[in-house]
Amino acid sequence: MWRCVSRGLRIPSRRSTSGGFLSHRFFSSESNSGRSAYTIVDHTYDAVVVGAGGAGLRAAIGLSEHGFNTACITKLFPTRSHTVAAQGGINAALGNMTEDDWRWHMYDTVKGSDWLGDQDAIQYMCREAPKAVIELENYGLPFSRTEEGKIYQRAFGGQSLDFGKGGQAYRCACAADRTGHALLHTLYGQAMKHNTQFFVEYFALDLIMGSDGSCQGVIALNMEDGTLHRFRASSTILATGGYGRAYFSATSAHTCTGDGNAMVARAGLPLEDLEFVQFHPTGIYGAGCLITEGSRGEGGILRNSEGERFMERYAPTAKDLASRDVVSRSMTMEIREGRGVGPMKDHIYLHLNHLPPEVLKERLPGISETAAIFAGVDVTKQPIPVLPTVHYNMGGIPTNYHGEVVTIKGSDPDAVVPGLMAAGEAACASVHGANRLGANSLLDIVVFGRACANRVAEIHKPGEKQKPLPNDAGEKTIAWLDKIRNSNGSLPTSKIRLNMQRIMQNNAAVFRTQETLEEGCSLIDKAWESYHDVKLEDRSLIWNSDLLETIELENLLINACITMHSAEARKESRGAHAREDFTKRDDENWMKHTMGYWENEKVRLDYRPVHMNTLDDEVETFPPKARVY
Ligand code: FUM
Repeated sequence: MWRCVSRGLRIPSRRSTSGGFLSHRFFSSESNSGRSAYTIVDHTYDAVVVGAGGAGLRAAIGLSEHGFNTACITKLFPTRSHTVAAQGGINAALGNMTEDDWRWHMYDTVKGSDWLGDQDAIQYMCREAPKAVIELENYGLPFSRTEEGKIYQRAFGGQSLDFGKGGQAYRCACAADRTGHALLHTLYGQAMKHNTQFFVEYFALDLIMGSDGSCQGVIALNMEDGTLHRFRASSTILATGGYGRAYFSATSAHTCTGDGNAMVARAGLPLEDLEFVQFHPTGIYGAGCLITEGSRGEGGILRNSEGERFMERYAPTAKDLASRDVVSRSMTMEIREGRGVGPMKDHIYLHLNHLPPEVLKERLPGISETAAIFAGVDVTKQPIPVLPTVHYNMGGIPTNYHGEVVTIKGSDPDAVVPGLMAAGEAACASVHGANRLGANSLLDIVVFGRACANRVAEIHKPGEKQKPLPNDAGEKTIAWLDKIRNSNGSLPTSKIRLNMQRIMQNNAAVFRTQETLEEGCSLIDKAWESYHDVKLEDRSLIWNSDLLETIELENLLINACITMHSAEARKESRGAHAREDFTKRDDENWMKHTMGYWENEKVRLDYRPVHMNTLDDEVETFPPKARVY
């Protein structure tokens, strides 16, 4: 039982601009290992942003600009967020290299999504894109330049001109092959100019939900001193990134553990379209590090063991710059048919050695270094050994194009969850549908981070009075945390994690069948059960990485279970979900979004319709058709 043993005085916040306060409470509990005491600190802000990657920072900047007293909670120092690893660039129809039009970008994105993307959200993103990139330029992002001094734009996969009829588009604005690094540091600089209060190395544990179903904030653990913090806010924005680390081989940072997704699932809300997991064609064989698609945009070529440029067979027009799902599947087919390279014939070569060394130096310096360090390859002379590697989660927390989280309520499939928003890879707007186009991710984070801030400004005023938190706010979470901290089973966290990663890698792979997916469901459910037998060695609350990794493991497992069950249920092939037993897209039965719930530690699935409508008559809807490159 929890007991409130002391309630501190409410004292004025050190930096309250909207009636904020701090108060201290102390909770204690009897646990297996004796008495545990937790210090609780309460905060009130107009808005709380969880995550300080590109989406979180852009949301925080916008909120502060609108005058909202904003807290940004992040488990990492902001400039260590995974956005830093993005390489290739950000799409926008700026028209710097050729004529371009946001409607062509929209067409490519709808086609890339294999008609699972919501067309209203895609229109919003593509129309906002040029503005968003110019805004970044004005913030000081050091873009690569053309001879005339314009922002340089490279070719990227799945991008065309004139609704697929005009050949390859050059739409991807970049800062060499370190665009995410440049973007994240630029946004952090902007955030510093504003009044956002950062809570760095605070691990968000759970949402605080009101009895009316609204979100009233979050509870977080200060990793440095073990204090717990309840952040009350009219608006909570989740920008916590993806969950690539549910897999064995991923380009994602080890910190990509789907924490926000799991918080939403634990709150009884659904996660959308998790079965769509993107494999990037060119992760370094073995190490999994990303080699940007920009390397193929600059002229790089994939070859099999016979030296053949095999993409000409699979995608005669776009070749190596076909959409990612198409290239990853083609590489897998080559390997399966015995044309892989290396002693085990289990990977493919990416050749850049025919490109002029000055192009490599100017446009691809980062991956040249990565290839030298992680593959021991001099890209001016040798090919890079590559393999499709988990890179991105198209699914996530369902939102509308304003960034508001939505759920199914009665007959309304798009019911807004008051007070809760999401942006970036954690969210599913759904602009990527079944397959994301390269360089639409950096775009998504800035467009929808900003959209969240703008929406908050439409429905709230700075300093608005807030409802008191429920009396028991956070108590369940504290009991849960205490239980994990005192776990005394027989399995170390790392063992359960490795088992989960292997199951996901083997059973929810590039190609899937009923057999692999059914087996995957049974194995991942067992992996979840084994989590009840986890053992922690460290029971402290100060920099307890054992505890944090175990919470991350639980978060990953929830994402993994919903992913596997959603994939098993979807009896068609669409985008990144390629079934060998249901090889065709089935629009009649499956043009719908999966909504996966985590109920009593089991997955329950429901569905909601895809938005085929556009926002206005600036563009017409794109009806489904065959997707060829
Ligand atoms: O290949 C890349 O540079 C990755 C870009 C992206 O995922 O958007």
